Amino acid sequence: MPSYKKEKDVLKLLNISRTTLWRLKKKGLPHIKVGDSVRYVIDEVKDWVASEPTTVYQSSLELVNDSPVIYDFDKDKIINNYNIDLNFLFESNYFHLKKILKESEISNLKYSLKNYKDGDLSNQEIVKIFSKEYLKIIQQKYKIQTRTNDYDTHLNNFVNNDKNSIKIIWGDAFKVLRKLESESIQLMVTSPPYFNARAYSQWDNINLYLDEMRKIIRESYRVLDNHRVWVFNVGDIFDNDQITTKSVWGKRRIPLGAYFIKIFEEEGFEFVDNIIWDKGEVESKRHMNNGINYPLYQYPLNCYEHLLIFHKHRLDKTKIPCPVCGSLKVNGNTQSEIGVQSWECKNPNCFIRSPHNRGKRFSLRTNLMQYNHNNNEDNLIESKIINMWRRDIVKFPPVIKINQNGENILGHSAPFPEDIPNMAVKYFTYVGENVMDPFAGSFTVPIIAQKLNRNGIGIEINKDLFRKAILKRINNSINVFESGEAFVEFDAF
Ligand SMILES: C[S@@+](CC[C@H](N)C(=O)[O-])C[C@H]1O[C@@H](n2cnc3c(N)ncnc32)[C@H](O)[C@@H]1O
Ligand SMILES: [Zn+2]
Repeated sequence: MPSYKKEKDVLKLLNISRTTLWRLKKKGLPHIKVGDSVRYVIDEVKDWVASEPTTVYQSSLELVNDSPVIYDFDKDKIINNYNIDLNFLFESNYFHLKKILKESEISNLKYSLKNYKDGDLSNQEIVKIFSKEYLKIIQQKYKIQTRTNDYDTHLNNFVNNDKNSIKIIWGDAFKVLRKLESESIQLMVTSPPYFNARAYSQWDNINLYLDEMRKIIRESYRVLDNHRVWVFNVGDIFDNDQITTKSVWGKRRIPLGAYFIKIFEEEGFEFVDNIIWDKGEVESKRHMNNGINYPLYQYPLNCYEHLLIFHKHRLDKTKIPCPVCGSLKVNGNTQSEIGVQSWECKNPNCFIRSPHNRGKRFSLRTNLMQYNHNNNEDNLIESKIINMWRRDIVKFPPVIKINQNGENILGHSAPFPEDIPNMAVKYFTYVGENVMDPFAGSFTVPIIAQKLNRNGIGIEINKDLFRKAILKRINNSINVFESGEAFVEFDAF
């Protein structure tokens, strides 16, 4: 005598709505009527669901998330009910591929798919491989279309080969960026020159400085990978802008942070956050005016810098395959944020449909996020770091670069603390990706990136001034025995 379960148990087991259950019953889900109510035998329900590929309505069954409600045996059966292979995906998508790709690109795709042995792979893995190879071809196409005339094969090979060494590129950030492949860097982190705050860089006035920075930011937009992040550390300085007056009286607070936000936005980036770096106690007694505690004498000291976070979301309407069934029969659905496209699967035989019988909805960004971490422990962020950066006001000390004898121990007058690239690299890149600092200074960013198994790349213009100190610092920081050459250099002047 089987045990009969109530409707609520079945709803819970399948994680579906009442309407869906009603629909499933109409399609033949085994049940018996007991007076006014209905009863189910759980084993019969499970068998039926597993054998009914087109009628599986799983609302919360996600590809990568281990859904707490769906039991594993169910999930596997459901997703592997159809046996697809790479050739099936290629053939069934051929119609759509032809609309997007050239004949030669389609044969490249076919060729790359042939390299996989897909006999034992699950549908999920097959869909993943197909998407990966398809997107590779789409990205390559975009890169070639958007290359500048200055594109430099040697430099691009230099950047991408030999991921175990830090890449030192000597040259002007703008000129170097012009030579680089579009969307070939996954994270940019820097602290630019703060106008005329240091001896190594001087501009005649603030506008000339901002114009030069804008050109570099514009070019960085092209070079940064789509849906990726720029972490830009800058402070609001107290200086003469050399416009209003050139006399010493012309000094004023110049809100570089605000200026840069505007420039980044105008160049296409999305402003995401202005994290305040609280630099702690300030030693200077400036501004305190000898304790004359009367109005207009006193003013707080500046003790913070900005960590500006920007996203690049170039709207790319290229269809990407449904992450469940691999079909390119998808429709643009909405934009979850500016430039972030999402789709709905229109394949009626897709393995997963919503409770209201709509196709799987997905966005490129969630797709990237779910596919890339692969539960790979190397990409895990320690809770210590997450805890440190849980609020957008963060306190840590600036770098002490002058020793007790008044000597600069780092060989650079404006290095920034390792905490910044440490957070940026862990939060915004996966192991193996390219991290670039276009104003590398003492190479803090590339060094940290390299230590975290990313590819650390820095551009620095002042070769004569900093080369010796930079090489020394890199050699002291990186374990040469494990990683081969600690650094490689490229002259791009
Ligand atoms: C504030 S420092 C960067 C400090 C760096 N974050 C560190 O930890 O050492 C700015 C650096 O940008 C360099 N620089 C200035 N203009 C440049 C340009 N157009 N291209 C490349 N580097 C430039 C300067 O020589 C300086 O070393
Ligand atoms: Zn689908």
